Amino acid sequence: MPTILNYEPFVLPPQRGVLPPLTAIQEEILALKRERRAVILAHNYQIEEIQRVADYVGDSLGLSYQAAQSQADMIVFCGVHFMAETAKILNPTKPVILPDLEAGCSLSDSCPASELAAYKAANPGLYVVAYINCSAAVKELSDVICTSANAVKIVERIPADREILFVPDQNLGAWVMKKTGRKMRLWAGSCYAHVLFTVQALEKVKLQFPGAPVVAHPECVEAVRDLADEVCSTELMVKFARQSPADRIIVVTESGMLHRLRREVPDKTFIAGPTDTCACNDCKYMKLNTVEKLRDALKHRAPEITLGADTIARALAPIQRMLDWSR
Ligand code: 13P
Ligand code: SF4
Repeated sequence: MPTILNYEPFVLPPQRGVLPPLTAIQEEILALKRERRAVILAHNYQIEEIQRVADYVGDSLGLSYQAAQSQADMIVFCGVHFMAETAKILNPTKPVILPDLEAGCSLSDSCPASELAAYKAANPGLYVVAYINCSAAVKELSDVICTSANAVKIVERIPADREILFVPDQNLGAWVMKKTGRKMRLWAGSCYAHVLFTVQALEKVKLQFPGAPVVAHPECVEAVRDLADEVCSTELMVKFARQSPADRIIVVTESGMLHRLRREVPDKTFIAGPTDTCACNDCKYMKLNTVEKLRDALKHRAPEITLGADTIARALAPIQRMLDWSR
């Protein structure tokens, strides 16, 4: 059993009073945003400094809706590559800018399109449900997309006589199987960050904050999900925090989430879910975006996401099916 380091828990106490004033670079970002008639969309895992200058902060599903309906001249996407690609597919006439093109995702990487194509060829007739954390090329090969917020609903819509292949997250897939009772083939992918949460680390923090409910992301492993009072998408964590009678909540997901929670639910204390070696857990890809890179991206209108028209058309179909089924 690995040793648990003797770290202090990472705790964000209630947000008292007004938020600190914006820094010079944040003000510069807001001025450039107005000048460029841009919209800044940010995922819940972005650093607090970026979340505060974004027009919208949310989960993958909310960000997809925002990207689809945006009237801005330019979409600046503070998240990871597959999210910016999805924005481009949903709103292809707008330039979509990602402050750091290297902001990838281990889940997306765990399912290369060539491997999925080979698997489909060897196993014809499968209905492919792809978690949105995948490349545009994988989306092209899929029948419907889902996010952590709507995965259960999406799987429930699939005709009972179809055999489902769920890609690329085996943990989200296993959670959906349990919730729906629907058997699925699971691709053996996972999120490198969420699988770092362990039962022993969680049990330790639960002892330090007795009675605090635990909310966990479905990308966590089953043993960790089983310890949680609620398993849900990052957006639904905000709803859970608002509705919970508890004033202290343990949040088992990427640590940027705590900033969103603290702004939205300022009277509560949020405790980061720990790993065996760290009191909180950052996604190294999400954290590649910085305020400096965001400022430069607005200034230079780059780096831009580019996708061929055929890819956009083919990848849109399963995303559109998801949006239609999610209403
Ligand atoms: P959400 O859609 O729940 O925000 O999840 C996105 C993600 O990448 C989780 O690791
Ligand atoms: Fe991908 Fe995991 Fe990072 Fe989410 S937290 S973007 S699933 S690597």
